[in-house]
Amino acid sequence: MAIIGIERLIYCVEDVEKSAQFFEDFGLSPQERTPDSARFQLPDNSRVYFRSLATHPVPGSRVVGQGVHELIWGVDSADNLEKLVTGIATDREVRRDEEGIAHFVTDEGIAMGLRHWSEKRLVFAPTDPVNSPGNIRRMNAHRRWIARAFPKGISHIGLLSPDLEGLVNFLQTRLNFRLSDRQRHFAVYCRADGVTDHHNIALLNANAGLPGMDGQLRFHHANFAVTDLDEIMAGKNYIERRGWPKSDLGIGRHRIASALFCYFPCPAGGEAEYGADSDALDDGWIPRDFDPMFGLAHWMHDLPEWWDGADWDVRFAEGSAPSKGSVQRRPNLAAAED
Ligand SMILES: [Fe+2]
Repeated sequence: MAIIGIERLIYCVEDVEKSAQFFEDFGLSPQERTPDSARFQLPDNSRVYFRSLATHPVPGSRVVGQGVHELIWGVDSADNLEKLVTGIATDREVRRDEEGIAHFVTDEGIAMGLRHWSEKRLVFAPTDPVNSPGNIRRMNAHRRWIARAFPKGISHIGLLSPDLEGLVNFLQTRLNFRLSDRQRHFAVYCRADGVTDHHNIALLNANAGLPGMDGQLRFHHANFAVTDLDEIMAGKNYIERRGWPKSDLGIGRHRIASALFCYFPCPAGGEAEYGADSDALDDGWIPRDFDPMFGLAHWMHDLPEWWDGADWDVRFAEGSAPSKGSVQRRPNLAAAED
């Protein structure tokens, strides 16, 4: 019974035209644009929709403010879709639409859907070989030159929620999600059972007390996968040349997921993130528990005053322990080895 990723995001926004223009510059491919709706498609055949928050709210969504108001998960087969829907329907309404999407709302007020994603494409985006001292992987060959970023798929979304554990429990028990890592009192990262992404949903504590966190259920960000550092930087340059606001932190690398990141203020709500070079996980992974600031980043280009790198503080998550034969490095030993 496998969920194989984010099939579509439905944004409810204040300004559809401006939101669509931003995401076109961000590198998504427009399929349909009208004054009050827009649809984009990515190379893996996932989709992003924009519609007016004022006139077309998502039924049942209790997300406050603009941003993603519904998240549709892709399921690997029609049989597995029906199994998941049967389980969801035991204690809540499930509404089917003409596309076969089964829509429902979690107890926390997050509108979700399930769809048999038969047309999902596997995207192959190889990186250029990297040279380093004594390690020549690219002889008599220069790197590819690109002018823009074109995301390949939707890796994850981030939501601010006042009830992290309720939502984690729902994802694990009703949708078979796996816990990837925890960021103590701050966030929980979960992945769908049919993917190797580090996480497909990041649940951030709406009561963590940082700017922008007011205790309410809000959209935080969506992450779009690109190939590598060069594609992130080419995309960043293009977005800034087009006049959109600059990223606050610039490029950086998270410790959690090891992923390169670059977040941009987004006119559709929250932030839009380019991501690359994330850890890939399967069920052999052992979840970890990070100090929030230590887990946040390994390094950042535009160093914010509030982040000093933090002291080394990571361990295996409570209830998780390495099994015999596990190959995962103990996180508390990694410092000594590096
Ligand atoms: Fe992210």
